[in-house]
Amino acid sequence: MEYVDLYLIHWPVCLRPAGGPPKFPNRKEDAVPLDVAGVWRAMEECQRLGLARAIGVSNFTTRHLDKVLAIAAVPPAVNQVELNPAWQQRTLRAYCADRGVHVAAYSPLGGQNWDGRGNAVLDSEVLAEIARARGKTVAQVSVTLAAGCVFWRAVAVSWTFAPAGEGLVDHAFVVYCLVCHTILFSFAFVFPYYQVALRWIHEQGVTCIVKSYNRERLKQNLEIFDWELTDDDRLKISHIPQRKVVEASGLFSQEGEFTSVDPAELNIVEE
Ligand SMILES: NC(=O)c1ccc[n+]([C@@H]2O[C@H](COP(=O)([O-])OP(=O)(O)OC[C@H]3O[C@@H](n4cnc5c(N)ncnc54)[C@H](OP(=O)(O)O)[C@@H]3O)[C@@H](O)[C@H]2O)c1
Repeated sequence: MEYVDLYLIHWPVCLRPAGGPPKFPNRKEDAVPLDVAGVWRAMEECQRLGLARAIGVSNFTTRHLDKVLAIAAVPPAVNQVELNPAWQQRTLRAYCADRGVHVAAYSPLGGQNWDGRGNAVLDSEVLAEIARARGKTVAQVSVTLAAGCVFWRAVAVSWTFAPAGEGLVDHAFVVYCLVCHTILFSFAFVFPYYQVALRWIHEQGVTCIVKSYNRERLKQNLEIFDWELTDDDRLKISHIPQRKVVEASGLFSQEGEFTSVDPAELNIVEE
């Protein structure tokens, strides 16, 4: 590999070199403050040398970005942060929009239940309700499709195989109609509500970094570009209770003490 498209600072914190491969969780004693100017200049150098097409940051709040932007010759192209309907990052999004920093969303579907309190996106009743309403819209289309199938099948059966007048009671035809209805209706009522979450993120001008090991889900997660949420959907989503899940302190073991960094600085929370 000769270059990467995008090179990010993962967290606004540094670790003392441990003298071996990195081990997780990290020791609190090994945390040291990020040398913003030094690290960002090194990032800029990587880009200048062609090793990275673009450079950016991750898990940076507006306060961290203030420090980078104060010294940057090349501003961060991207800030990758936890973002989904249950953690909407309104303050950060407005800040980044004003300064031309693109926002990318990790854990767009609520992530991996990091805090053991369930998944605020996949468990959201608001998103499920929006999906059910959309499912009904899809159902209306399906009914039309089903009626169309029935009609043309009836014409084909009565015209091609059956003696005049008998085609419409052909058994195969009845089974065919039932199968059509079942398939179309089941599709209609299982409109996946994770697509509502991904579509909402896309509509905010934010890139989704959604992860799946399942090929079918990978495809489904891309099916968000040919429809849109209604104003009413957006209003409902704006009222979803907010909860940040991923915290910098989660990178460190429970034991030990931070000796060189202020834990409050690590866990800044901005709604
Ligand atoms: N910069 C950072 O500090 C940071 C922090 C956390 C994560 N990330 C990155 O962000 C990316 C995604 O984050 P994430 O894994 O936390 O969260 P996520 O994409 O919100 O959630 C992934 C989970 O959702 C499931 N899933 C995906 N598509 C689905 C679908 N269509 N229906 C139902 N379930 C579905 C996946 O299961 P299956 O695999 O079984 O489909 C997986 O368990 C990863 O690449 C990760 O490396 C970055």
